[in-house]
Amino acid sequence: MTEVTASIIKCDVGGWPGHSTTHPDLEETAREQLADASNAGAIEDFHVTHVGDDLNLIMLHREGADAEAVHSLAYDVFEEATEVAKELGLYGAGQDLLSDAFSGNVRGMGPGVAEMSFTKRTSEPILAFLMDKTEPGAFNLPIYKMFADPFSTAGLVIDPNLHQGFRFEVWDIQEHERVFLETPEDSYKLLALIGAKERFVIKRVYPKEAHKLPSDEPVVAVSTEKLVDVAGEYVGKDDPVALVRAQSGLPAVGEVLEPFSFPHLVSGWMRGSHNGPIMPVGVEDADCTRFDGPPRVVGLGFNVHNELELTGPVDHFDDPAFDNAREKANEVTDYMRQHGPFEPHRLPLEEMEYTTLPGILESLEGQWHSVDAEASEVDAETVTVGEVE
Ligand code: F6R
Ligand code: MG
Ligand code: MG
Repeated sequence: MTEVTASIIKCDVGGWPGHSTTHPDLEETAREQLADASNAGAIEDFHVTHVGDDLNLIMLHREGADAEAVHSLAYDVFEEATEVAKELGLYGAGQDLLSDAFSGNVRGMGPGVAEMSFTKRTSEPILAFLMDKTEPGAFNLPIYKMFADPFSTAGLVIDPNLHQGFRFEVWDIQEHERVFLETPEDSYKLLALIGAKERFVIKRVYPKEAHKLPSDEPVVAVSTEKLVDVAGEYVGKDDPVALVRAQSGLPAVGEVLEPFSFPHLVSGWMRGSHNGPIMPVGVEDADCTRFDGPPRVVGLGFNVHNELELTGPVDHFDDPAFDNAREKANEVTDYMRQHGPFEPHRLPLEEMEYTTLPGILESLEGQWHSVDAEASEVDAETVTVGEVE
C-alpha cells in the first residue's frame, strides 16, 4: 500500500496581456524548477499548465498535505516566475503573492491549494479541474452532481458500491466554520447550504463508513482560499482548483465529467463582479477573451502509476462531446451581457460590497437626503437632482 499526496498549487503571477492568459515562459520556468525538485527526490512527479492567467502546479509526492517542503517549493517557483513576469513586463506581476514572508505554508498567503493524501489503488484515476475568473463555490454544483445526483451519476443507482452515498465537508467561508453532511440522507440540507455558493463551499468529499475505501481519505479536494480575506481588500477572484478521484466504487471518469456538459452560472468574470456561464475548454482554448472571460474550466485526467508517476494528462474537454456546452455558454454569454450593468448579470449588492461599491458610496457622501416625513412638504419646483430638502 502506497500513501501518496496529490497537490495542485496555483497562483496568478502575471497576465499576458491584462488578465487573459499565462506567458509560456512562466510555465517553462516552473517546469525547469519542478524537474530539478523531482530529480532531487523532493517530489515524485508533476505537470505544469495554465488556465487563463493562473499558473498551475500539479504535483505528486510523499510528504502529506500541508507539507512545508512542498509548499515552499511552490512558493519558490512562483517567486522565480514572478521575476520572469517582471522581465517580460507582464501585467500584475506577482499579484497573488501577497505576503513575501513565507512561514511554512502557502495557505492564506494568496495562492490556491487543493491537496489530498490517500492510499493509492492499483490503478488510480485522478482528475484535476482548473477554473479561471470565478470563485470556489463554482465547484459546488458539479461536485454535488458527481457524488450525489442519481440523474447525473448512474453508478449511484446501478452500482451497489456507491449505494451508501458520500460524506461532504462544507465550509462556511464567512464564519470560518465547517460541517459534515451525508448523502443521500442530508441531501436537502446540503443543497440548502451549497446553493448559496458565495458563502458555503464543498471543501472535501469522503467515502462513508460502509464504503470499501478508507473513510478518512478524501476523494475530492477543492481550494477555498479567499483572496478578499487574505488581502483585506479586493484583488481578484480566487480562481479555484479541484482534485477528484474516480472509478471502482467512485463515480466513473465519464460521470465526473458529465456535470460540465451544463455551463452553469458562476460569479466572477469581468472585474470579479458578474455572473456568467462557465465554459469547459481544452488547454489550447484556456485563454480568457470576451469581457475577460467567459469563465473557463479545464479538466485534465491522469492515472497514478505504480512508481508514483502521473501518466497523462488527457485533456478531457478538448473534445466534440463538449461542443454543445460551449455553444450554450456562448448563447448565455450573449444573453447575460445584454443586461450591461444590471443584476443579475452584475453581482448583487452584498457581493459588490467586497469589491468597489464602498468606494462609490463614499464618493456620494453628503449628497443623500431623507425621503421620509418632510418629503411631502417639498416644493417640487425647488427640487433639483440630488438636493431634496
Ligand atoms: C477578474 C479579473 C479581470 C480584472 C479586469 C480589471 O478576476 O482579473 O476581469 O478585474 O481586467 O483589471 P485591472 O483593475 O487590473 O485593470
Ligand atoms: Mg489576474
Ligand atoms: Mg485568474
